[in-house]
Amino acid sequence: MTKKKILIINGPNLNLLGKREPEIYGNQNFEDYFKTLKKQFPRLNLKYFQSNHEGALLNKLHEVGFSYNGVVLNGGAFTHTSIAIADAIAAITTPVIEVHISNVHAREAFRHHSFFSKHCAGIIVGMGLTGYELALRFWDRKTPTSAF
Ligand code: DQA
Repeated sequence: MTKKKILIINGPNLNLLGKREPEIYGNQNFEDYFKTLKKQFPRLNLKYFQSNHEGALLNKLHEVGFSYNGVVLNGGAFTHTSIAIADAIAAITTPVIEVHISNVHAREAFRHHSFFSKHCAGIIVGMGLTGYELALRFWDRKTPTSAF
């Protein structure tokens, strides 16, 4: 059986996970966490991409967005600012799950609005790095739910 192709995309400043505001984002860097995810989901073909550049994130969504089975996207601060990325999520056919490590709704008001959510298959916030794992479980399940 061919494995489902899933890309995890992290946006700006998420390359600093483990060093950046650990009281909010934790102590683990994403590269290490990604290794554990790959072991945890042997039935998925998992790839990882991170960029601090809006255009690079757009290009990556365009590149995978008509062939991959899923995208897990933490757009970082672009979530709250980027109509261009929201348009890309709407344009592609691959379902996107929006993930935020922190509970954005318990933080500053400017973090409460996401331009992406409307176009996403689902949203996971405030579960720490476990949020990525929960998103991957959606594609790892054996029996599809009726909605997708
Ligand atoms: C974040 C929340 C955003 O508001 C913030 O700009 C980030 C990280 C999160 O994962 O909690 O960079 O997306």
